[in-house]
Amino acid sequence: MNMPNLSTSANASADLMEKIVSLAKRRGFVFPGSEIYGGLANSWDYGPLGVELKNNIKNLWWKRFVQQRDDMVGVDAALVMNPKVWAASGHLATFTDPLVECKKCNERMRADNLPEDLKCTKGGQHEFTEAKQFNLMLKTFLGPAEDDANVAYFRPETAQAMFVQFKNVLTTTRKQLPFGIAQVGKSFRNEITPGNFVFRTREFEQMEVEYFIPQPKSDEDWNKYFEMWRVEMNKWLSDDLKLNMDSVHEAEIPEADRAHYSKRTIDFEFDYPFGRKELYGLAYRGDYDLKSHQDASGESLEYTDPHTNEKYLPHVIEPSLGVDRSVLAVLLSHYHEDPVESKDSTGQAATRIWLSLPAKLAPYKAAVFPLLKNKPELVAKAREIYDELRKHFNVAWDDRGNVGKRYYSQDEIGTPYGITVDFDTLEDNTVTIRHRNTMEQERMNASDLVARIKSKLED
Ligand code: GAP
Repeated sequence: MNMPNLSTSANASADLMEKIVSLAKRRGFVFPGSEIYGGLANSWDYGPLGVELKNNIKNLWWKRFVQQRDDMVGVDAALVMNPKVWAASGHLATFTDPLVECKKCNERMRADNLPEDLKCTKGGQHEFTEAKQFNLMLKTFLGPAEDDANVAYFRPETAQAMFVQFKNVLTTTRKQLPFGIAQVGKSFRNEITPGNFVFRTREFEQMEVEYFIPQPKSDEDWNKYFEMWRVEMNKWLSDDLKLNMDSVHEAEIPEADRAHYSKRTIDFEFDYPFGRKELYGLAYRGDYDLKSHQDASGESLEYTDPHTNEKYLPHVIEPSLGVDRSVLAVLLSHYHEDPVESKDSTGQAATRIWLSLPAKLAPYKAAVFPLLKNKPELVAKAREIYDELRKHFNVAWDDRGNVGKRYYSQDEIGTPYGITVDFDTLEDNTVTIRHRNTMEQERMNASDLVARIKSKLED
């Protein structure tokens, strides 16, 4: 496997990022948002293959983190909540980034993350104002009147609904501690410096768990759950996303850099081409949120221990994962370029670009090719096989060009199997199945294809 080395030179890294953005657009994973109107800075739309990849990631996460556990349940809450939620959670007061503005060119930047090269477009160096705190919540108005009474905010994290609905979930599910609530959905932040493709955008998706634990009597009492989720997050990265784990690093965040609610945070960082940066976070939020909402709403959010009848506010461990950063890390980790012996039409040595996506993540699990598209009996047989496979998983159809080109085209989008239907298929129902990773081909009975491909989905 020829994996471009992410840490070689700055040029190679920039190059890899360009290749990923270009592949994403060329093959329909991610398009620039509002492109026909000149785009909207840092907004991206997931295309036909991107939505499949993204859904596969979210569904796998839901399966691992919710459905396969006895101690988890899910919710799907409104994006806009009562503004009192954000006053209580501390977001209105503290969800801010320090912002500076150049007095000459008016460019705005995050004061805590200024680039080394501070050249101003109006000449010389930037001349910055004093830093002021800028709230990152995206404001809107509910109803026709745009006045203070109707101000509302798009949620900056999915987390708060899980605290606000804690009592309802507890009452309806009769769960006992420890147990968690999970949610997947959009969050919005008016980021000062979005960028690096889908890494930092103003609208993004999160997969979050709020895991409620008994009130700890010692650090060990919460640390064991923190550790359990740390291990789970690593399993997700290595077993489900199958990332190159040499590119993943855990960073203990010092108190001064932690969010206002956190008593301990570990960032899972990834070696992106633009540097080592946050992929996910794991935080111990104590009872900060339940206490804040209990105080602000006047509603008791206490839990009654069924054994001791003791009433108390549970504490919370929070694994928080970004969907879009998962997509980016998956594309980067699974991108390969291999030289191939045949030359292309210009006589240049050709390159095979391929994505080693786990079958579970691949937009298509297989592609079906009739050897020749002008032979109706071949096309009909291929169509029959395609329709049968489609009952079980997502399958591509391609009848353009020669079969070799079709294999390469599917390699580029990570389809694990290519299935060619030829004249022998009409005689004995066998097909050629070609494996993406090894490029090996074998002959097998078409009636065994479903079982073969399904077994790959278990890997
Ligand atoms: N509830 C905790 C929370 O929201 P966070 O570290 O601010 O914590 C969690 O965000 C995850 O959400 C990040 O690790 C990242 O994966 C993703 N994320 C945060 N801001 C993002 C942005 N502007 N664009 C894309 N993903 C973002």
